Amino acid sequence: MEESLKKLQGKVAIITGGASGIGEATVHQFINHAARAVVIADVQDEKGQELAQSIGLERCVYMHCDVSEEDQIKTLVETTVKSYGQLDAMFCNAGIVNKSEQTILDLDLSQYEKLFSVNVGGTASSVKHAARAMVEGKVKGGSIICTASVAASVGTPLYTDYAMSKHAVLGLMRSASMQLGKYGIRVNSVSPGAVATPMVCGFSEMGVEEVERTYETTYYLNGVLKAKHIADAVVFLASHESEFVTGHNLVVDGGFQH
Ligand code: NAI
Repeated sequence: MEESLKKLQGKVAIITGGASGIGEATVHQFINHAARAVVIADVQDEKGQELAQSIGLERCVYMHCDVSEEDQIKTLVETTVKSYGQLDAMFCNAGIVNKSEQTILDLDLSQYEKLFSVNVGGTASSVKHAARAMVEGKVKGGSIICTASVAASVGTPLYTDYAMSKHAVLGLMRSASMQLGKYGIRVNSVSPGAVATPMVCGFSEMGVEEVERTYETTYYLNGVLKAKHIADAVVFLASHESEFVTGHNLVVDGGFQH
């Protein structure tokens, strides 16, 4: 294997929301970069198990984990450490969007509570338990990466609840990075632009090609933003190459936001 493809050699990682979309692409890139073990944590059991099996169970396993349930995250992290001896990288990526548009005029508390329990509560609990395991295990170079969104830095015309939740992820990431630096643990986020994953195709009711055509014109770079582009940024943030980067929100959007 080329040296440039060994950025995560020996590392043990958990990827929440790893059964699909950006998480799935990151599972592949972590394995490509020689991670020792990747634990896929998701609620889509069949998809997650198939993915782990397709990679090979000696390096990739699936665990059911609903990130909105803190005890399930605690078990996920504890089981990982018991099985592999350590946790080096946690990608807190699981997230949802409400299909119905939520402007401030029709914001529905019952809907955004669920969204917050996954996007904010689930991310916070993931950061918390990963950090505890890294502190207790005296892990060197521990890295925690959260998935925010371009909607974490700007408002959205239609999905108020989603933008609120992703702004909260940035606050969480930045505070945790200040608190965990003394333990040598870095906390960063990636903010993807629109990628044609099952989530985006689902709420927009468009196929992959239609989503890609719709967003292609909004990038300053030529081409189409793919899940692999986000995964590559996550590899960088999990690796030694970003060893003095913390509290940073890495926007991967082809220039969309400018
Ligand atoms: P996706 O729907 O393909 O993948 C999300 C995964 O999270 C799915 O496998 C789903 O089963 C899992 N998940 C949902 N709720 C969960 C829970 N309670 N516990 C554990 N797993 C759960 O969507 P995508 O696009 O890959 O989303 C990944 C992250 O990227 C999300 O946080 C999303 O908000 C964020 N994002 C996505 C963008 C895009 O354009 N696709 C843009 C900006 C941010």
